[in-house]
Amino acid sequence: MANEDKIQALIEKNAEAELGGGQDRIDTQHKKGKWTARERIYGLLDKDSFEEIDKFVLHQATDFGLDKKRFPGDGVVTGYGRINGRLVYVFAQDFTILGGSLSLAVSDKICKVMDLARKNGAPLIGINDSGGARIQEGVSSLAGYGNIFMRNVLSSGVIPQISVIMGPCAGGAVYSPALTDFIFMVENTSFMFITGPQVIKTVTHEEVTAEKLGGALTHNTTSGVAHFAGKDDQEVLDMVRGLLSFLPQNCRENPPAVEPADDPTRIDMGLREIVPDNPRQPYDMRKIIHSVMDNHYFFEVQLRYAPNIIIGFARLNGMTVGVVANQPSFFAGCLDINASIKGARFVRFCDCFNIPLVTFCDVPGFLPGTTQEFGGIIKHGAKLIYAYCEAVVPKITVVTRKAYGGAYIVMSSKHLWGDINYAYPSAEIAVMGPEGAVNIVFKKEISGAEDPAQREAEMIEEYRRTFASPYRAAERGFIDEIILPEQTRPKLIRALESLKNKKDSMPPKKHDNLPL
Ligand code: HXC
Repeated sequence: MANEDKIQALIEKNAEAELGGGQDRIDTQHKKGKWTARERIYGLLDKDSFEEIDKFVLHQATDFGLDKKRFPGDGVVTGYGRINGRLVYVFAQDFTILGGSLSLAVSDKICKVMDLARKNGAPLIGINDSGGARIQEGVSSLAGYGNIFMRNVLSSGVIPQISVIMGPCAGGAVYSPALTDFIFMVENTSFMFITGPQVIKTVTHEEVTAEKLGGALTHNTTSGVAHFAGKDDQEVLDMVRGLLSFLPQNCRENPPAVEPADDPTRIDMGLREIVPDNPRQPYDMRKIIHSVMDNHYFFEVQLRYAPNIIIGFARLNGMTVGVVANQPSFFAGCLDINASIKGARFVRFCDCFNIPLVTFCDVPGFLPGTTQEFGGIIKHGAKLIYAYCEAVVPKITVVTRKAYGGAYIVMSSKHLWGDINYAYPSAEIAVMGPEGAVNIVFKKEISGAEDPAQREAEMIEEYRRTFASPYRAAERGFIDEIILPEQTRPKLIRALESLKNKKDSMPPKKHDNLPL
C-alpha cells in the first residue's frame, strides 16, 4: 500500500470511529435532546483543544455475538484538553455504542485517563451516559467498575474529580460518580439509581417513574446525591467550566487568582439593614454573601438541598473562597442531619484543595426532634465539627446574629481554631436563646412570682442584656473584633491577605476516622 493510501485509510478509520454507533443512533440520541459523547467534549473544552486517546480500541469479547458488534473506540471517548486554558482530562461514555455499556476495554480506557490525570495533577471530568455493565461480558465488566472505583479513591483529594450525568447511570455504576467531588445532572434526560423502577416494583411493589426515582430534581433536592442541575447539555457543561474556574489543578497548588475587578475597600451601608431588630425574624443570608463578594457573584453548590445551610464558591479581591453560611430563612438556620453532611463535605473539599473558608454564622442550635435523634444527628453533626477541626486552610468567621450552644462551636468558632472571628454588634453568642435559658435557670423563681408572665419577661430582658451580645465572647478573645456590618468586605479581604501564608497541619497518621 502506498503511503498516500495509508494516509487515506487512517482518515477513513478516524471518520468511522467518530461516527460512534452510526448515524441512526446519533439521530436517536439527538431526538432525545441529548448530545453525542464527542459533541459534549467539544462543548466542554476550549475550542480545538481536544486530543483524543485510544480512538481505535476494540473490545475482545465474543460471547452472545459480541464479536460482530465491534466499534472503534468502543463505548467511551477519552482524552485531554483545556478549559479556560488549563489542562483537564475527560471521558465521555458513548450511548450510541451498545448503550454506552461498560466493557473491560471501556474501563481500561477510562482508567488510562484517570491515571494520567492523577499523575499530571489535572482535574478529571467524567461524562456518564450508559446502560451500565456490558451484560454480555459478565464479570469482566464488573472488574472494570472495580478498577475505576480504585482510581477514584486514589485521586480523591489529589485532583478535583467531577461527574456529569447526561443519561442513564444505573446499578453499581452510580458509585464512581458518588466517589467523586461534584455531580452535575441534566433535567429530564439523566437519572441515577441503584435499582430501577421495574426491580423496585417486583421487590417492594412500589410504583415509581425513573424521573421521580433518580432524576435531576430528586438528587438535587431530596437525596443530596447531586450538586448541580441544568436544563440541557450545554447549560450543564457551562456550569462545569464555571466551577473549575474556582479550583486549583491539584492539592499541591493554590486556587487560581483572577485579576480583581471589584473595589477591595467597598463598603455597603445596606448591610446595616439586613439583620432585623427582631431576633425571631428571618432574613436571607444570601444578601450578605452577595453584598461582600467580588462583583456580588456567588457560585452556589447544592442550592436546593438542605437550604438551612448555604455553601458555594466566591472571590474576595480575586482570591477563591469557600463560603459556608447558616440560612435563617429556613428552619431558622438550625443545623440538621442533611445540613451537617452538606456542610461537612464541602468544608473537607475546600481543605483538600487549599480553598480558604469564610463562614457566616446565625444558628440557634441543632434541630430538635425524634426524627433527627433517631436519624443520628449526633454522629452526623459530628461530621461538621470534625471537618472544621481538621481543616487547616485559613478560616474566617462572621457571626451576624445567633451563635447558640454547640452549634456556635461548630460554625468555625475560635475553639475549632478559627483564625479570625468577627461578630456584628447584633450578634448573640450564648449557651442558648433567652426564652429557653430563663425557663430552665429561673423556673422556680418565675412560677413562684406574683405575676409569673411579667417576671419571665423581666428575666428574659435581663438575660438578653447580659448574654445576648458579642461582648462577653469578645472579652475572652473568642471574637477578635466586633465590626460594623458595612465593613464586612474590606475586613474579610484584609484578613484573607494576612492568612495567605498560613501553614498548619494535622499530626501524621495513617488516616483519620471521620464519624460516618
Ligand atoms: C449491553 C446494553 C446495555 C448493557 C443497553 N444496551 N444497556 N448492551 N449491556 N448493560 C444496548 C441495548 O441492547 C441497545 O442495543 C442499546 O444499548 C440501546 O439500549 P436501549 O434499551 O434501546 O435504549 P433505551 O430504550 O434508551 O434504554 C436505555 C436503558 C436500557 C434504560 C439504559 O437499555 C436498560 O435498562 N439497560 C440495562 C440497564 C441495566 O440493567 N444494566 C446492567 C446494570 S448492572 P441495540 O444494539 O439494540 O441498539 C450493573 C452492575 C455494575 O451495571 C456493578 C458495578 C459494581
